[in-house]
Amino acid sequence: MFRSGDNQPMIQRRQRLLGSAYRLFYDEPLHVVRGEDVWLIDRDGRRYLDAYNNVPLLGHCRPEVVSAMSRQAGELNTHSRYLHEAILDYAEHLLGWFPDVLDRAVFGCSGSEANEFALRVARACTGKRGVLVTECAYHGTGFITSQLNGSFHGQRESWIATVPAPDFYRSNPESFLAGIDRAIEGLRRSGYGVAALLLDTAFTSDGIHLPPPEVFGAAVDKVRAAGGVFIADEVQAGFARLGEGLWGFQRAGLAPDLVTLGKPIGNGHPLAATIVRHQHLDAFSRDAHYFNTFGGNPVSAVVGRMVLEVFEQEKLADNARSTGRYLHQQLAQLADRHVRIGDLRGAGLMAALELVDGNAPDQAAAHQVVNAMRQRGVLISSEGPSDNVLKIRPPLTFRETHVDQLVAVLGECLALISSP
Ligand SMILES: Cc1ncc(COP(=O)(O)O)c(C=O)c1O
Repeated sequence: MFRSGDNQPMIQRRQRLLGSAYRLFYDEPLHVVRGEDVWLIDRDGRRYLDAYNNVPLLGHCRPEVVSAMSRQAGELNTHSRYLHEAILDYAEHLLGWFPDVLDRAVFGCSGSEANEFALRVARACTGKRGVLVTECAYHGTGFITSQLNGSFHGQRESWIATVPAPDFYRSNPESFLAGIDRAIEGLRRSGYGVAALLLDTAFTSDGIHLPPPEVFGAAVDKVRAAGGVFIADEVQAGFARLGEGLWGFQRAGLAPDLVTLGKPIGNGHPLAATIVRHQHLDAFSRDAHYFNTFGGNPVSAVVGRMVLEVFEQEKLADNARSTGRYLHQQLAQLADRHVRIGDLRGAGLMAALELVDGNAPDQAAAHQVVNAMRQRGVLISSEGPSDNVLKIRPPLTFRETHVDQLVAVLGECLALISSP
C-alpha cells in the first residue's frame, strides 16, 4: 500500500541524475510500473483511472500495437533513405484521412519537430518570417517552438506576435480578432510580414476553447489576406478527440495549409507527422532537403499504421462522440451544483472545468482537486493561463462506466473546496 514519503529516495535520485528542469505531476508523485487500457498501475498494484493521457489513444500498451512494433523491430529497423514499403503504406493510409489538397506526409518523432518543420515550410512558401500564436499556446521544445510557448521566459524573437486566445468566458470574439489585426499590422510594420498563423485547434494550453467556426474562419482569412498560411496543430485535438470529425480543423470548418500531428499518432511510440500541400513542400524543397534519422522508420511506420487500423476497427471516433456526450452531460450536472465551477468547456473526450472564486481564477482549488483525485485513484491535471482549469482528456477507449467513476470522484473532491 502507498505510504507518503516512500517515493522520496527516488525523487532525490531523479533530481540528482536528471537535474532541475524536469517537473513531476502531483504533490505525491506517482511511481507507475504498468499500463493497461485506461488504467495506470503503481508499484503496489494500485490501479488509477487515467482520465488525463491522450498519448495512449487506443489505451495503454495496446496489444495489437505492441505486437506490430515487436514484429517489425525483429525484422528490420533503419532510416528513411532506403526503399521500404511500410512508410509508403502508412503515408497512403494516413493521407486518406485528410482533404485531398493535403497530399504529402513528412515524418518526425515529436510534435515539436512537426511544428518546427511546418514553420520552415511556411517561411519557404511565403517568403515571410512572422509567426502568430496565442498567448499561452504550447507548441514544443525546439529552438523556434519553445519561444512560441506562453511559458517561455526571456526575450522572444521579434518575429513572434502573440494574440489573446478566443476565451469567450473572459472576453469576446472581437478582442480575439482585433488581436489578430494588431499582430498582422505589427509584423507588417517591422518588415517581417506574416508567414504563418499556428494554432492548437482546441487552444488546449490557453485553457481549452472552441470558438465558433465563423470566428476561427475570420482569423484564418485575415492571415491569408496578409500572405500567410494557416498551420493547424492537431497534436491535442486530432484523432477525433473532440468527438466531431477526425480533426479540430474539420470541426471548425477550416481548410488548413499544413497540419501537425504527434502524441496519440503512435499510441506511445515517438512518432509525428507534418501533413502538407505539395506546392508548399515543393517551395521548401527547392533550396533544402529533409532528413530525419528516426522519423518514419519501419518500426514507427507499422506502429502508426496499426494505430489507424485499430482506431477504425473499434470505431473510436464514434466512442469519442457518444462517451464524450455522456461525459459532458455528467459534468454539466456537476457544474449546476458547484458554484466554484465558473465554466465548462470542450467537446468529445476533452473537457475543461474552470474553477473560480467569485469570478477570479482559483488556482489553489484546481491544485487541491487534482491532488485529491489522485489520492482517490483518478488522474486528471490542470491547465490555462492561471492554471485553474481542470483538464480531462482520457484515452479514446474511455467508456461510460469510466465516466461514472471519474465524475463521482470529481464530485467528492469539489465538495472539499466548496465547504467553507
Ligand atoms: C498542441 C501541442 N503541440 C505540440 C506539442 C509538442 O509535442 P512533443 O511534446 O511531442 O514535442 C505539444 C505537447 O504537449 C502540444 O500539446
